[in-house]
Amino acid sequence: MNAEPVLSVRELVVRFATDAGTVHAVNGVTFDVGAGDAIGLVGESGSGKTVTSLAVMRLLPKAGRIVSGEVVFRGKELTTLSEHEMRGLRGKEISMVLQDPLSSLNPVLTIGEQIAEAIRAHEDVGRRAARERAAELLGSVGIPGAGDQLERFPHQFSGGMRQRVMIATALVLHPKVLIADEPTTALDVTVQAQVLELLHELTKELGTAIVLISHDLGIMARMTRRITVMYAGFVMESAPTVELFARPRHPYTVGLLGSIPRAGADGELRPIEGAPPDLERAPVGCPFEPRCARRIAACRETMPPLVPAADASHLVACHNPVPS
Ligand SMILES: Nc1ncnc2c1ncn2[C@@H]1O[C@H](COP(=O)(O)OP(=O)(O)OP(=O)(O)O)[C@@H](O)[C@H]1O
Ligand code: SF4
Ligand SMILES: [Mg+2]
Repeated sequence: MNAEPVLSVRELVVRFATDAGTVHAVNGVTFDVGAGDAIGLVGESGSGKTVTSLAVMRLLPKAGRIVSGEVVFRGKELTTLSEHEMRGLRGKEISMVLQDPLSSLNPVLTIGEQIAEAIRAHEDVGRRAARERAAELLGSVGIPGAGDQLERFPHQFSGGMRQRVMIATALVLHPKVLIADEPTTALDVTVQAQVLELLHELTKELGTAIVLISHDLGIMARMTRRITVMYAGFVMESAPTVELFARPRHPYTVGLLGSIPRAGADGELRPIEGAPPDLERAPVGCPFEPRCARRIAACRETMPPLVPAADASHLVACHNPVPS
């Protein structure tokens, strides 16, 4: 771990105000990532991974609010920055590849215009230079004949191509932090490997700090140094990747890792029996309790704190962790 994290998220709490009531989407998430480092966020659908990322970027939808906690980027607290100040950082210093690329690309601008626009929003370069740079970037994410592709519109691209455009746009400014939310789901295996290699090079050559979100445990194992496991908006466990796969301590993590590719499994997270909790109720006790085979009386009463399990780098939030 680098001494000084580039991005440090502390006890982040995010809620949504909806007609049906309050959605407790993120309930005290904590993680760090250092320069040249890559960490992963894993958890079932709805565990709060995307909402956490959007909160870091200050891109929450209107109904969403950061209730408490800190997001510290290079010593600067982001949750209280003005939108104007935030705009200066977004894209340039902290970039995000969104889970759904179509919704985040502008349908009336060509691919070339959007990337060039992103470049010119932050760098003092002419139109021509920006377009050349855009072509170069598309080439770097494996879009063939990059020059011609610049004239196309997002709807003329496949899902995989759009995802690569998003990645190219995110990489435009060599951000210090890149949050990649399922960056390769729409890509075929070959392109997926190219994109992951590109992300890997970024961490190594430019010292970019990467927060990777994926349901694919094989990708997580290859790409990350440390993994934070989320459930119902809580961090359940956080450990160096190798340690987490070798000695998971949280019953939820053990359930998820049941999917570790053995005989030909595809590496996807395994569904765990039972349903995640209703986030419209304020959390009391451990949210995994109804589904947990190791539950004890205390589990219904209090949410266990995230504390070191064995050594200081392996944290677990559980009243009755799995023995190592
Ligand atoms: N605009 C919104 N209004 C109300 N609730 C929301 C909103 N956006 C997200 N949520 C809720 O926040 C919770 C966390 O959602 P989030 O999208 O972060 O999950 P996720 O871990 O990214 O899941 P997935 O793996 O499916 O992408 C979910 O219960 C979701 O319904
Ligand atoms: S705190 Fe209790 S219910 Fe929650 S995971 Fe641990 S043992 Fe299971
Ligand atoms: Mg998501």
